[in-house]
Amino acid sequence: MNSSVEHKETGREEVIHIRGLHKSFEELTILRGIDLSLYRGENLVVLGRSGTGKSVLIKCIAGLITPDAGTVEVLGKNVPDLGPDELNVLRRQVGFSFQMSALYDSMTIRENLEFPLKRNLKIHDTKVLDEKVMSALADVGLERTANQFPAELSGGQKKRIGIARTLILQPEIMLYDEPTSGLDPITSEEINELMVEVQRKYGTSSIIITHDITCAKTTADRVIFLHEGEVGYDGPFESLYTTKNPLLSTFMQYFNLKEHERAR
Ligand SMILES: Nc1ncnc2c1ncn2[C@@H]1O[C@H](COP(=O)(O)OP(=O)(O)OP(=O)(O)O)[C@@H](O)[C@H]1O
Ligand SMILES: [Mg+2]
Repeated sequence: MNSSVEHKETGREEVIHIRGLHKSFEELTILRGIDLSLYRGENLVVLGRSGTGKSVLIKCIAGLITPDAGTVEVLGKNVPDLGPDELNVLRRQVGFSFQMSALYDSMTIRENLEFPLKRNLKIHDTKVLDEKVMSALADVGLERTANQFPAELSGGQKKRIGIARTLILQPEIMLYDEPTSGLDPITSEEINELMVEVQRKYGTSSIIITHDITCAKTTADRVIFLHEGEVGYDGPFESLYTTKNPLLSTFMQYFNLKEHERAR
């Protein structure tokens, strides 16, 4: 389906178009007028301190949270206006890889991957299921885990299975919420490469929320920095280090320090 819109100024095709997005929880104002565009085929990284509303933002995109004001157009449809059936269609086109991998512990990896195929695509043919499961496992390099249970896998493997379970529906857009959190640098690097590979192989457009500067550097075509519910920076990764924005330079100094510590 190709129902997105063209950006007025850039002429590039927008798969997500957000304007004036506001969200509060009772007295607590989280998003204060977010404007954001995601262009077809790009990886957009969202940086920002803990609690600034990064997860709330992508939950608004996935229709899991209803905004107080603003438009959230995804593939040409305003998400807050969608009824349950249209939301189900949207959720097939927009894959959400959660902050916690959220696999079903009582199911094998194969059953975990079959679940969205049966539920969302109503596929029950065992041969088709098997082909799709094995191809998704091959994409994340974990074919051999098909008959294991989540408890038998490492944290990094579980993250990859979580991503495979989202990719199995071949979404046009992927939303990754902290895909590398809690992983060692080598495993993180594997996840970063996987996200770039997904973009290359399937032409997927993605939003990647991260606190991991290496992840941002490896995967980002563009970066936005959320600060106190607003977009404080929107541009290339390289310019993050030279921006005059004092809030962002403090944030980046913290990462420079971390890189330095890692190099010691
Ligand atoms: N369903 C909810 N009900 C009430 N408050 C919420 C809800 N979801 C999020 N919040 C609040 O919104 C704020 C932003 O939360 P969010 O999860 O988006 O932060 P974040 O930027 O993703 O942080 P982190 O980097 O720690 O994941 C927090 O103060 C959180 O408590
Ligand atoms: Mg979060």
